[in-house]
Amino acid sequence: MTRIFSGVKPTGHLTLGNYLGAVRGWAEVDQHRADALFCVVDLHALTVEHDPARVRRLSRQAATLLLASGLDPERCTVFVQSHVDEHARLSYLLECVATDGEMRRMIQYKEKSALERARGGSVRLSLLTYPVLMAADILAYGADEVPVGEDQTQHVELTRDLAVRFNQRYGHTFTVPRATRPEVAARVMDLQDPTSKMGKSHESGAGIVYLLDEPDAVRKKVMRAVTDSGGEVVYDRGARPGVANLLEILAACEGGDPEELSGAYDSYGTLKKDTAEAVVEVLRPVRERHKELAADPAYVEEVLRAGAERARGMARPTVDAAYRAIGLLPPAAEGPAGGARG
Ligand code: AMP
Ligand code: TRP
Repeated sequence: MTRIFSGVKPTGHLTLGNYLGAVRGWAEVDQHRADALFCVVDLHALTVEHDPARVRRLSRQAATLLLASGLDPERCTVFVQSHVDEHARLSYLLECVATDGEMRRMIQYKEKSALERARGGSVRLSLLTYPVLMAADILAYGADEVPVGEDQTQHVELTRDLAVRFNQRYGHTFTVPRATRPEVAARVMDLQDPTSKMGKSHESGAGIVYLLDEPDAVRKKVMRAVTDSGGEVVYDRGARPGVANLLEILAACEGGDPEELSGAYDSYGTLKKDTAEAVVEVLRPVRERHKELAADPAYVEEVLRAGAERARGMARPTVDAAYRAIGLLPPAAEGPAGGARG
């Protein structure tokens, strides 16, 4: 059976980009067709300046939102990365396979490290090695597929390179995974700045729709979206990024094709109005279910406990095999109490 792994970082509140680009597909398609694991990757949230209490809060919220989005613990495994030691264990081995040049070429590293430096801050070493930990997340489970938004393509490519290299040097150990992405909305753009990705850690929230935004807040943000000059509704990502973004969001929410949908509109106003309502309707059940689940933290905690236990059982044999393959001496098996020396 196909094995799927994906994750979301608790660095901010989940956005419409996370939902349309990743989480919705996990819930509606992936968990039904494969043996799937979905992870709140909290170790990744420590790669930039963070507040411990906030990371804890956001991790719980992200897990609750994954369940609210329809991930069913009877069908898939939902867990928190730091609850399973194998991720960090494997990450170190992969650091011994990856190169420093390879890490420095990662677009996300270049962008984020430049941002940290511009703010006068320092860059954590873990920001550089982050893609190796992500590779470990994926390879520990022998995942065949990794459903992610467009921004993660390069990291999944790196994961493939590391898997192939490890296998060639040390013998076949890892499945070589591939990235999959949704047909539309693989890169939802910021409504105020449609040339950059809608990301949860942007300074200003005006261009970001959060999954838990109230309907009126969603309407306001969409109605105020920056559009392009020239009032015609055409789908052209390069020349008309603002309108293209709205058409993609609308298409993703209602089904259909952004290009075809553009023909149905002759003004930006009606396009915005319909997009706003479509987003409100898509988020409504998620928000309602989140409210119920947030009132029952013990249930969410139990799902995460059981998920981590299951995940551990899956990752352990692969990571142990990697330890042996790379040349580390296996610890002696524990004998019966008192054993041979007794
Ligand atoms: P992150 O918030 O970076 O942990 O991302 C979790 C998942 O959501 C990843 O698969 C991302 O590729 C996806 N994602 C994040 N932001 C967007 C966006 N603006 N559009 C589409 N997918 C996104
Ligand atoms: N790096 C991913 C992001 O920023 C999150 C992530 C970490 C992930 N580990 C993963 C995604 C493994 C897929 C598979 O979105």
